[in-house]
Amino acid sequence: VTDGPLKGRRVLVTSGPTHEPIDPVRYIANRSSGAQGTAIAEALAVQGADVVFVTGPADTKRPGGVEVIEVQTAAEMAAAVDAALPVDAAICAAAVADWHVVGAGNSKIKKDGSGKLPVLEFAENPDILAGLSRPGPRRPALVVGFAAETDDVIGHATAKRERKGCDWILANDVRPETGVMGGGENAVTLISAAGAEEWPRMRKREVAKKLVARIVDELGAGETG
Ligand code: C5P
Repeated sequence: VTDGPLKGRRVLVTSGPTHEPIDPVRYIANRSSGAQGTAIAEALAVQGADVVFVTGPADTKRPGGVEVIEVQTAAEMAAAVDAALPVDAAICAAAVADWHVVGAGNSKIKKDGSGKLPVLEFAENPDILAGLSRPGPRRPALVVGFAAETDDVIGHATAKRERKGCDWILANDVRPETGVMGGGENAVTLISAAGAEEWPRMRKREVAKKLVARIVDELGAGETG
């Protein structure tokens, strides 16, 4: 057990993409390397937190010193998150697919040569972050989400924070020219009730450290009662 300011605190981190099957060999997914979520889980563990790391399929090396729960779909991620409660804080860094394919079955959709194209029907996935943020006895004291945006980053992220009901949003500019997606660096703005605070572009590991320092401030040091 690591000593540190988050000793005795249980923190949940979601990370990576989810894969939503179309059939047994095909899926839809969002782009996500899992690098930022992994860095956050590691930084939390270093500060002594008990970390539950719920990850979709990602090639990233698993963080050390944390409980790892591997899932495929958004529905599985939602169930794993639910089972991990209660927690003191939840950081939703996963790029959850917004939809799943209705009726994805056990047999592969065949190209039958007739030129007839498959038609997919989608249904909405549960919003894990919004669910965690809902007021109630199981709501974590601190709920943090991410907002990957390509334009009006602050405007969209501020609206997202209010819509989802989380405490903080880390907004990041993921326009292709930023190289954030799949890269080692991130440029984020922390949006809270107090407003928007732009952080300089830095390594994802440094973003994680800075976020965890803020979490320590917010939760206060020491064991929970
Ligand atoms: O709405 P959008 O997907 O941009 O919101 C991003 C934030 O919401 C991220 O923190 C992501 O982990 C979370 N999210 C979630 N469940 C979903 C969709 C998004 O937890 N179904």
